[in-house]
Amino acid sequence: MRALVVSDLHSNAEALRAVMNRVRRKKFDHVICLGDFVGYGAQPNQVLDTMRTVRGAKMYIRGNHDRVAAGLEDGTGFNAAARHAAIWTRDHLSAPNRNFLRNLVHGPMRKNGVLLCHGSPHDEDEYVFHEHHAAQVFALDDAPVIFYGHTHLPVIFSQDARGRVKGASVRGEVIVKLDPSLRYLINPGSVGQPRDRNPLASFAIYDSKKHSVQFFRVEYDVEKTQAAIMGAGLPRILADRLAVGT
Ligand SMILES: [Fe+2]
Repeated sequence: MRALVVSDLHSNAEALRAVMNRVRRKKFDHVICLGDFVGYGAQPNQVLDTMRTVRGAKMYIRGNHDRVAAGLEDGTGFNAAARHAAIWTRDHLSAPNRNFLRNLVHGPMRKNGVLLCHGSPHDEDEYVFHEHHAAQVFALDDAPVIFYGHTHLPVIFSQDARGRVKGASVRGEVIVKLDPSLRYLINPGSVGQPRDRNPLASFAIYDSKKHSVQFFRVEYDVEKTQAAIMGAGLPRILADRLAVGT
């Protein structure tokens, strides 16, 4: 499998367009999305229309924002800005996109030798930031490669045969060769709302035969995205943070 891996698109159609442009000539036969197609941003329908029609076999799971925007939950645990955006999204989805969101698979999804989850394999809402969190995830599942999102931070954790876990933040564009004797927990970062103080959209391409993950960062029209957010009457913080990647 050679898969385009995206996560946390957050209704940012400009960022997703830049990602799709970047991979236009690249080979991939699957598209993995680790959830949070929507929320925060003002272009949910454009993002969902693109993701529903992208080439490649789709391996999609839902995120916590998708759950609320689909009307499956009321967003009680969200901060005010996130809740505002989730409810705005719920009210602006086209009927096919609402259906699509409602029917997204609740992770974890195990397919083609990888495990996909939004937060962690046992909790959609859990944040995996540090090595001790990663160790817990490795302990609860024996999948050789696990992809996750939710933190919006590109990172790669590995675990060796003796159980030792190492984590490394991914900075910029790199190709990581995977050692078949190790297990991996990988976050491709966020397309639509990066939070590692780098405003460029983040994603990856995973090649299971070559045992490699390539991380990408692409520039997109942040100002246009911000104008859409302000034009929709969504909280200013949701626009401002895109310029700095927080
Ligand atoms: Fe997210």
